Amino acid sequence: MRVIAIDGPAGSGKSTIARRLATRLGLEYLDTGAMYRAVTFATLRRGLDPGDAADVARIVGDIELEVGAERVTVDGVDATIEIRSPEVTRAVSLVAANVDVRSEMVRRQRAWATERGGGVLEGRDIGTVVFPTAELKVYLTARPEVRAERRSQEVADLSYEAVASDLARRDALDQSRVASPLAEAADALMVDTSDLTVDEVVEALASKMRT
Ligand code: DC
Repeated sequence: MRVIAIDGPAGSGKSTIARRLATRLGLEYLDTGAMYRAVTFATLRRGLDPGDAADVARIVGDIELEVGAERVTVDGVDATIEIRSPEVTRAVSLVAANVDVRSEMVRRQRAWATERGGGVLEGRDIGTVVFPTAELKVYLTARPEVRAERRSQEVADLSYEAVASDLARRDALDQSRVASPLAEAADALMVDTSDLTVDEVVEALASKMRT
């Protein structure tokens, strides 16, 4: 199985780079952050409190998720846009800290890769927990102001300051949670993308792959 694990904080360039690398290598791509966002969306849609760990744990196994490269559906409803909403973004760290949600998502992520004989998976715990034996493990970073600037270009209706403070809050939650915190695997290739183009990063990673 050919698995590439790409981890790192929000705005480090993971999605763009993981997609491009997958195309380049002829592999499929899975955005695992979209899965946690989709569970958060399903929780809010059911009128549950995302911070109520027992309630969320009770429903997570029943949520039907389809996370494709272009479209995300949750219980048969297209939620591609909604999973990026400020409401979901605010609540997602709570849901991602839920151990029962994590074990169910990890199970689904491993099944996804097994069905396809591998793939490029991006997230926070891919190299540390989901696929510690991945062929290539990458940890992307960028300076905080660069990450905030990238994210604020994606969300037109929020100010740079609002995006920067939300990003700092989510980084702190993702890094400090008990269950699978965002961390660099000891054997990950660390790349600071602040001053590199997407092409430069993709080329550097592709050159590390066995051909
Ligand atoms: O990459 P993103 O911003 O769409 O991720 C949404 C949230 O999900 C983020 O706060 C961290 C969490 N996440 C996680 O805990 N584990 C993953 N493998 C992917 C994302």
